[in-house]
Amino acid sequence: MSHHRRHHHPHPHLDQQQHRSVYEERFQGIPVKELFPEEKTGWVGYVEWENAPERKRIASELLKTKKFTPIPEFQFVPLPDTNPILIGHRWKEYHEALGLKSIVDFSWEIVQKEKHDMLHVLDFPYNGETRPEHLLGDGKVTQNRHHFVRNHGGVPDIDPDVFELEIGGLVKNPVKLSLRDLQDPSLFPQAEVTVTLQCSGTRRREQINVYPGDGDELINAPWGEGAIGTAVYRGVPLKKVLKRACGGVLPECKHLEFIGADTYFKKGEVYNYAVSAPWRKVRANEEVLLAWEMNGEPLPKLHGAPLRVVVTGYIGARSCKWVYRINALSEPSFGPVQRQEYLYYSQQIGKQNALVSNGFSIQAMPVSSAIMKPSDGQVIIHDGKINLQGWAYSGGGNWVERVEISPDGGHVWYAVPPENLTKKHYHAWRLWNYDVPVDAEGWLEFCVRTWDSSNNTEPTYVRSAWNWDLHVTSSCHRIKLYSVNRSRPATAKRLKQLEDHGDSFEPLTKPLEFTVEPFEEYEAACKADPREPED
Ligand code: MTE
Repeated sequence: MSHHRRHHHPHPHLDQQQHRSVYEERFQGIPVKELFPEEKTGWVGYVEWENAPERKRIASELLKTKKFTPIPEFQFVPLPDTNPILIGHRWKEYHEALGLKSIVDFSWEIVQKEKHDMLHVLDFPYNGETRPEHLLGDGKVTQNRHHFVRNHGGVPDIDPDVFELEIGGLVKNPVKLSLRDLQDPSLFPQAEVTVTLQCSGTRRREQINVYPGDGDELINAPWGEGAIGTAVYRGVPLKKVLKRACGGVLPECKHLEFIGADTYFKKGEVYNYAVSAPWRKVRANEEVLLAWEMNGEPLPKLHGAPLRVVVTGYIGARSCKWVYRINALSEPSFGPVQRQEYLYYSQQIGKQNALVSNGFSIQAMPVSSAIMKPSDGQVIIHDGKINLQGWAYSGGGNWVERVEISPDGGHVWYAVPPENLTKKHYHAWRLWNYDVPVDAEGWLEFCVRTWDSSNNTEPTYVRSAWNWDLHVTSSCHRIKLYSVNRSRPATAKRLKQLEDHGDSFEPLTKPLEFTVEPFEEYEAACKADPREPED
């Protein structure tokens, strides 16, 4: 049993009283701290649940004896203006109840190190969104320190030197491979793939804003447009590992299950994170990678170090981080993330009718896009063109063909010229940048829509694609901008007046301090065009 993190990282947030109560507590006669050990040296924060049914049972019974902070309301009320936005009291308490508080502390410590400048959507399990200015970056990729993070549990801290990956189930020869084995190019050919990972919660706030839905703050975190990012991953195709190390899969194998070292809770039960991808996807060679490198650096801890799965074109959930076991199965994983979450319900299915069986499982991501600059509600003073920038992505191996911008809510569309888009990739987004012709002034609604290589495009309104779990917001992204067109003489004159008074146009709601029209001019105008009819 290894508790060495406890010595290195004391619990500064726990007062002595709490400290005693958590660590001296017993359940069925056994100290809680001994019930759920980290049993492998060098694998801190990892507790085996999937191969330990008795341990799972005890944990579930222990959890039944506790009360947890209820799920907060975050849809019918405005989101707090804080960073972190939401606090994961409940999930911290689950971990604490099992004597695993050190996982909570480590997780936040590593956020401070690896992701200090993010929009922290939820502090634990950590969910962090890229700030709009960092999403566009300086090229096609998102820097590691700015790439979004989506966690369902704590962050394991695994020593790469002792790490091993176990592959079993419906394979010819089950094996255990060290990271060194996997990284040995004489054993397995390596691949580098540019991949956009997108959480299916990206842009969820647009659905929340008009029609709230399921409200679990973890599963349905209130993401904006930044739960998406692109990186170059280096690793080995899983197909090659299955072939060369395991001698291939058995004919009954239809799905590959990935188990992550983090602890996950669902309705009072405890699990390791488990998801799967179909064998026919894995067979596509470079579409399912076992990756250890992200943008030329070893995987950051928050992104799954030392090894993660990268499934191209699918919902991010399948790209299992901290993967330590792969099982070849005849059907999809029974892990709750695979079977009970990331389901897409029709409009009629809500709290009153939702079942696990009547939503379909989200796999390949649809075409989607977002305007990242300017931001919603901004006043733009321009000379007949407004510069808009954003991302456009399509999953399932489709690539972005065309991005279109409408300055009038979706009637007139301008195509972004191809040279204003970053390069095409099979599995990654294209960033775009365009000066949209805008003559009109006042509040205008801008929207973006993208066409992919299969001629798919985006629904025009949020309502067209609303679903109970608020997933995959793929409708045209809309923002309102207040247009001030300086190329119009009257507008230029007013701006000049403001300047002469040493005054600013913004904030928009601030009243003008000077008389806008001298009385003589007003009178002359009224004479030329009387206010009232003459007869
Ligand atoms: N793997 C494990 N082990 N645990 C997790 O919570 N989250 C998944 C996936 N892999 C998750 C995981 C989800 S929902 C997404 S969107 C991606 O990781 C996010 O990857 P990132 O955090 O590297 O951006």
